[in-house]
Amino acid sequence: MHTSVPQQTTQPAPQESFDPRDWNELRRVGHAMVDAVVDHLETVRERPVWQPVPEDVRARLREPLPREGQGPSATFADFRRDVLPYGWGNIHPRFWGWVNGSGVPIGVFADFLASAMNPNVGAFEQAATYVEEQVLDWLKTMLDFPAETGGVLASGCSMANLIALGAMRSKQAPFDVRRHGMTAAPRQMTLYASEETHGSVVKAVEALGFGSEMLRRIPVGADYRVDVAALERAIHDDRAAGLQPVAIIGNAGTVNTGAIDDLDALADLAERERLWLHVDGAFGALAWLDEASRPALRGLQRVDSVAFDLHKWLYLPNDVGCVLVRDADALERGFEMRADYLTRLRGGLTAHPTRFSNRSIELTRRFRALKVWMALKDHGADRFARILGRNLEQARYLAERVEASPELEVAAPVPLNVVNFAYRGGADAEERDALNEELLVRLQESGAAVPSFTKIRGRSVLRVAITNHRSRHEDFDFLVDEVVRLGREIEGEFRAGAQDTKKPEVCDVGRA
Ligand SMILES: Cc1ncc(COP(=O)(O)O)c(C=O)c1O
Repeated sequence: MHTSVPQQTTQPAPQESFDPRDWNELRRVGHAMVDAVVDHLETVRERPVWQPVPEDVRARLREPLPREGQGPSATFADFRRDVLPYGWGNIHPRFWGWVNGSGVPIGVFADFLASAMNPNVGAFEQAATYVEEQVLDWLKTMLDFPAETGGVLASGCSMANLIALGAMRSKQAPFDVRRHGMTAAPRQMTLYASEETHGSVVKAVEALGFGSEMLRRIPVGADYRVDVAALERAIHDDRAAGLQPVAIIGNAGTVNTGAIDDLDALADLAERERLWLHVDGAFGALAWLDEASRPALRGLQRVDSVAFDLHKWLYLPNDVGCVLVRDADALERGFEMRADYLTRLRGGLTAHPTRFSNRSIELTRRFRALKVWMALKDHGADRFARILGRNLEQARYLAERVEASPELEVAAPVPLNVVNFAYRGGADAEERDALNEELLVRLQESGAAVPSFTKIRGRSVLRVAITNHRSRHEDFDFLVDEVVRLGREIEGEFRAGAQDTKKPEVCDVGRA
């Protein structure tokens, strides 16, 4: 149909939009932003890992809603002054807290380009859909999963765990659970995971209506791997009690110690018991890239689903995770949504058969795949494997350095990239906990390094999780020397009885 543009007789008043009146000004500010970002990344090693947000900055960050705009230059100046210097620290080579990726620089620009294109990657005939499909294929290749495996990118592993267990619920429930809801279950459904399993799995189980008590927490051995015999007994006990076991959740890298459950044994058990095997491989699944780590992950390709993050050990900027589901139809049955306004027509934008929005909760989805695609093209998968392998070596190196120091001790086995250790001082266990907590706070506040905190067998330890492509071996030498120095200093204060070291408050916000 041909439409002609109506002729203007009078000059219309300019209509407001968010586009600049002067595109060149935006271009100048944009270039300054690029320069600032590149400078910031290039010089990251020279700055403290972390510094607190000063009071004047906090005050400005509590100012009320601006009614009038100030333009891009002033806004960028505010960002440089009040936001950029006070990051979380994870781009720094000596950040090893929780489990966070350090960010591949090309990913920064990929996110910028993704926002410039601003597509909705829920579905539709567009390049972004093909890019995400290609990225999923590449990830399957990297993990040696069959090509027909279903998959989707997600905001992170919490969401990926939820999606996997949602697909599982639809497949395993003996009724239409999406339609009738969990109260229609003829028998209470139960799930099984080790007591070291991440809190996001618990949240997923709760959100899906199973109830966290129905997630049976199975004890672990001295190696923090699930006790498979105890797991089997728990399944049999529940069946005998008239309940319906539906899934086992295994770990490929527990958050606390990096333990990898015996996935092969779990796959055998799941097969025998006709249960769905999901694996939370938030960071550990990608250790498959390292040849030497493969024996520990044997069985990974036998799972029904695996969730893992690309913003952890693929080093990409937050946020991007992935879920792979062996039965691609089960994934869609878990989340598909029909609506007239989304009908697929024979051509045009809706013609593409892939509907990512039918594989997760999200309908509008950002172009997360672009940073994965660009990073893999820029560097090649082998470089990721090499750097991940170096992080594994660094974990072993740190553990050796700690073992070699009479004042320090390794607190748990180091099967992967997580090293838990403690300063040995203190008159008793309680004082030793206080000393290690104080030590960690001083280490973080000095900006020297950022390990995080956890408890191993009830005792406070420093936890170093290495998913950092910028870390060098000398960074770990520096860490050990600093920990020993601070440990002696605090112990001296304790001994002198002159300590002004109140026990730091440990806010329990979960094991993220
Ligand atoms: C083992 C494990 N599972 C799941 C998660 C949750 O991942 P995300 O923070 O990307 O949602 C984490 C986060 O650290 C984790 O370590």
